[in-house]
Amino acid sequence: ASLKAYNTFGIDAKAAVLAQFTSVEELRELLQHPEVKLLPLLILGGGSNVLFTQDVEAAVLLNRIKGIDIAPATDGHVFVRAGSGETWHDLVLFTIEQNLGGIENLSLIPGTVGAAPLQNIGAYGVELKDTFHSLEALEIATGNLVTFNREQCGFGYRESVFKREAKGKYIVTSVTLQLTKELHQYNTSYGAIKDTLAEQQVKELSLKSISEAVCHIRRSKLPDPSKIGNAGSFFKNPEIPVHQFEQLKQQYPAMPGYPVSEQAVKVPAGWLIEQCGWKGKVLGQHGVHKDQALVLVNYGGATGNEVKELAFEVIRSVQEKFGIALTPEVNII
Ligand code: EPU
Repeated sequence: ASLKAYNTFGIDAKAAVLAQFTSVEELRELLQHPEVKLLPLLILGGGSNVLFTQDVEAAVLLNRIKGIDIAPATDGHVFVRAGSGETWHDLVLFTIEQNLGGIENLSLIPGTVGAAPLQNIGAYGVELKDTFHSLEALEIATGNLVTFNREQCGFGYRESVFKREAKGKYIVTSVTLQLTKELHQYNTSYGAIKDTLAEQQVKELSLKSISEAVCHIRRSKLPDPSKIGNAGSFFKNPEIPVHQFEQLKQQYPAMPGYPVSEQAVKVPAGWLIEQCGWKGKVLGQHGVHKDQALVLVNYGGATGNEVKELAFEVIRSVQEKFGIALTPEVNII
């Protein structure tokens, strides 16, 4: 079966077995299926963070567990629990309609609810971990449902325990967030949000006005995966030691950087890649996006290996020019 419709890069790779599940019970049944038991597993949500470079000798299971419920919490908060197969942006829209605050800055991030904690999705000054309460996951070895609280998820920048010790051992089935019901804490710390709100002459902040500003910024910079194949930021923003940043700053005074601790500075990979001349580069059917150099794109018909080769060339040139090692943020399979 072709995976082309199931990954936002639009790569035409084949899966040995392809099936979907809409409930925990269906998932348990699938895991007991003889064909599935013989193969490694690959769980896909929106397929918005993978690059397939070959056919997938695995049982690819599409997560379609739906449902959103609200439960009261204490002091002006509510718990919102969503099935892991819900589309992330649909959950954001639902919370805004219900006037629940906390994830409006995460509007329009591609992918599903279940994938969000794996890489602690983040944008415009907010990360999933800020409102995350807990998740339920099926332990593959036992078929038991287990709960992870925020500490147990070990969140970091585009990181969680599910990319490290717990990798490949669990399938997330639901995620519970703790959102504000009143006294919303609007986060407009990100410059682009402030500028957009000013441009749109927004007088009174609301969940909706922030969400709309974020959607506007994303649509202006990031390619729509339904039109141009891509998986968002292809690389993480690297953290470098302060002394290296200061040295580079003498040579490149315009180099942006945000301190993350006493010792380290985070540098926008998009800037580094643009300085190496990659922004807007088109090579055959693939290339580097013209408005955001951190995004690699498939204009249609590129192979996963072509995109991977391009990623390696980008890494090589950034290493050569700046002595900084970029690491992919997308899962290369
Ligand atoms: N920049 C350039 N050239 C470019 C792109 C960026 O010079 O082509 C520089 C500019 O100085 C700009 C700065 O980089 O001010 C930051 O750019 P931007 O606001 O677009 O954010 P980013 O650091 O490139 C990160 C996330 C995005 C997220 C945005 C907004 C990562 C890997 N990426 O990108 O997340 O939407 O911040 O918060 O952390 C994703 O993870 O898929 C993703 C899109």
